[in-house]
Amino acid sequence: MIKPHGSDALNALYVSSSDQRAALNREAADLPSITLSSAAAANAVMLGAGYFNPLSGYMTRADALSVGEKLQTADGLFWPVPILNLLEDASGIEPGSRIALRDPNVEGQPVLAIQTVNGVDEFTPDEIDSLAEQIFATGDADHPGVATFKAQGRFAVHGPIEVLNFSYFENDFPDTFRTAQSIRDEFAERGWHKVVAFQTRNPMHRAHEELCKMALKDTGADGVLIHMLLGKLKPGDIPADVRDAAIRKMVEAYFPENSCMITGYGFDMLYAGPREAVLHAVFRQNAGCSYLIVGRDHAGVGDYYGPFDAQTIFDEQVPDDALDIEIYRADHTAYSKKLERVVMMRDVPDHTKDDFVLLSGTKVREMLGNGIAPPPEFSRPEVAEILMNYYQQKA
Ligand code: ADX
Repeated sequence: MIKPHGSDALNALYVSSSDQRAALNREAADLPSITLSSAAAANAVMLGAGYFNPLSGYMTRADALSVGEKLQTADGLFWPVPILNLLEDASGIEPGSRIALRDPNVEGQPVLAIQTVNGVDEFTPDEIDSLAEQIFATGDADHPGVATFKAQGRFAVHGPIEVLNFSYFENDFPDTFRTAQSIRDEFAERGWHKVVAFQTRNPMHRAHEELCKMALKDTGADGVLIHMLLGKLKPGDIPADVRDAAIRKMVEAYFPENSCMITGYGFDMLYAGPREAVLHAVFRQNAGCSYLIVGRDHAGVGDYYGPFDAQTIFDEQVPDDALDIEIYRADHTAYSKKLERVVMMRDVPDHTKDDFVLLSGTKVREMLGNGIAPPPEFSRPEVAEILMNYYQQKA
């Protein structure tokens, strides 16, 4: 199986011994504590689950600035997005101390992790602005990722962490939330050596389904890891439990048995387009996948990114030896009325726009909200039904 990023073995920061966790929870009760931002909590969950291997905790200012500028930490580890614990006010947090990190997303704000504070660094407002530009390719405060990033504060508490639980993800998504190690273990059990990962934050429509099938065939992989985002999204996106149900129905009805694993990870969506695509590749490599599908407007939002910027970043900013995982590049995929099947546009140069069934996200939402199923060429009826129910209950 493919090696993790940056080390031979996976270094998950979750404390797996229950005795040690109990001892750390006792220690935490007497420690000074802070409540994390949702973004920092999501970072802790990803570190705990081994997805952010080989990092040992939250980055320093120097690491973050270096990652922003050239996709590597100060000591040269390839990494695409700063992993930070940012606070508005870090007064009273002493270098060398240990602090309890409380979970903002669980009632009662239980301790999610303990951090050994190596230090507290302050970013200037200009540094925060230029980091946002580098990560999101825009400084526009209307961009949901930029807004979230800039709302966190300028003080970076850096140092290693020990993770005590997986926040709300374990309870809310017991069948779907997975750690990188548990995915690797299941690949080994299934005898899957080469796996294609499919990132998604949407219910899977026909294009998504066919992308997975095409990637499976073209790469000769043993299976597909459908790996959905379970964390926070911008308003208007479809909640994870609804997507999960729709994906399960679709896979059951339309994929060959034992060709897919339906899984998820606990992270908030950044909407960082190209940089997030590279982060996606890093953590799928950590989960043991050999390929990541990157299609049209991967991890995008609005029209901040060109449709294939998340592919070209791999040519322009990812050195050849930085990652072992390979990118499966998908062109715009849609149903062809002429051929009566889903195709990639690059494979049918004779087609014009009118030859495809194309629906915008806004149009699809409008139809579903009015109880109208999108055409079966766009969405499987089983998926449409789950989505219509969701939109109508919401109304
Ligand atoms: S994402 O934010 O997680 O990227 P989404 O779940 O919609 O959003 O997309 C999952 C993956 O499918 C991404 O790699 C995206 O580029 C790809 N994709 C979605 N729709 C299409 C399409 N019609 N054509 C090509 N690629 C697509």
